[in-house]
Amino acid sequence: MAPAFLNYLGFGGRDSVAEDKSPIRALPASWYTSHEMFELERRAIFSKKWLLTTHAGRLPQPGDWLKFDVTGYEIVLARDRQGKINGFHNVCRHRAFSVVEGKQGNAKIFACRYHGWSYGLDGKLAKAPKYDELEGFDKTKNNLFPVHVHVDSKNFIWVNLDSCEAPEPWSNQFAGIDLQERYKQFNFEDYILDHEYQLDGSYNWKILADNFNECYHCPTTHPDLPTLADITTHDVVGELGYIRHQSVLNEDQERDGLGISSTYYFPNVSVSVLPHFMMLQRFLPYGPTKSSMHYQIFRNKNSSDKDFKLISEMYARVVSEDKALCEQVQKNLNAGIIVNGELHPRLEKGPLYFQKVDREAIRAHVELEKAAGGEIWPARQKLPGSAHVSLEDEELCAGLACQTDQKKLLW
Ligand code: FES
Ligand SMILES: [Fe+2]
Repeated sequence: MAPAFLNYLGFGGRDSVAEDKSPIRALPASWYTSHEMFELERRAIFSKKWLLTTHAGRLPQPGDWLKFDVTGYEIVLARDRQGKINGFHNVCRHRAFSVVEGKQGNAKIFACRYHGWSYGLDGKLAKAPKYDELEGFDKTKNNLFPVHVHVDSKNFIWVNLDSCEAPEPWSNQFAGIDLQERYKQFNFEDYILDHEYQLDGSYNWKILADNFNECYHCPTTHPDLPTLADITTHDVVGELGYIRHQSVLNEDQERDGLGISSTYYFPNVSVSVLPHFMMLQRFLPYGPTKSSMHYQIFRNKNSSDKDFKLISEMYARVVSEDKALCEQVQKNLNAGIIVNGELHPRLEKGPLYFQKVDREAIRAHVELEKAAGGEIWPARQKLPGSAHVSLEDEELCAGLACQTDQKKLLW
């Protein structure tokens, strides 16, 4: 079978994309426009893959918390009094109000404003007013829904929303990426959050990923980039769940702390770290054709204003140029003329690798759903066997969905 065809099916190995001399077809437009595909991605990817979220330096004190959104799931990260970082869904176990409002803060306890239930910094239910009158109410079964948290050796915080006890191991996708050679020159504790911002737009999150992971478009759309690095040397290496970007620097670029030194972490996050500046970029899908580019911009506390601003202003211009490109692409995909184009196996190795990992994740989940005979939502609450009536109610509703959408809910 021709290598290009094997790659299209997602069977290409680590380097086969690079070695290929034939163009390779991109994912079809339907994957970037369909509501069903977006919902499938919420199940197959965002509910069960490890998602890089922020750096632990943003939670220095016990009680510090931060709230993040991922495809409609709101999660809270909090440092407890033992120094451990815990993660949970921002959903009260009583009647589903949000336990935190706002984006960040410091708390001794999380008190839900609706009926006054309160939870510890570890998510454990502390008080449920008047529920001590009730028999058979087990406080320990009503903690906030936990999310799995992994803090890597550079103190980046990752979350996994899979509600099972043991999600896919982090190392399956990211083994060793926190120990990459070029990270050795940086002390990540020196990088302090300078500001955050977001760019909302009409594009599928994968258009943003495709765009970020190649520099074939750099000469035509980013006038700043030749200052940043020698873009003719830009290259990427895709392995497991990440894509490493690199480029060669001249003496001036080296001296000014410039460069392209990013790692893209499937599905939706990249970190670009340079001597004076670090950018943590998250692509947050809100729907098939709506996403936000969210930026956490850190500055090295030892760097001058001038050094930091040179690079930070340049990156801000580059990402706003990318935003305009992605919006135009989505508009044309929505119009329904193009199904897909042919990508360059060397110059578009990054998007091809991203699409391969995406396709594999989607297909693997679809196989599980086929075997199970219905949709599988890995992040969803698992009801205890004692909740008989709820299980029957759920089945009734799933039956309705079955008649209208040919779908059935699975527990
Ligand atoms: S919804 Fe939170 S206390 Fe009722
Ligand atoms: Fe770009």
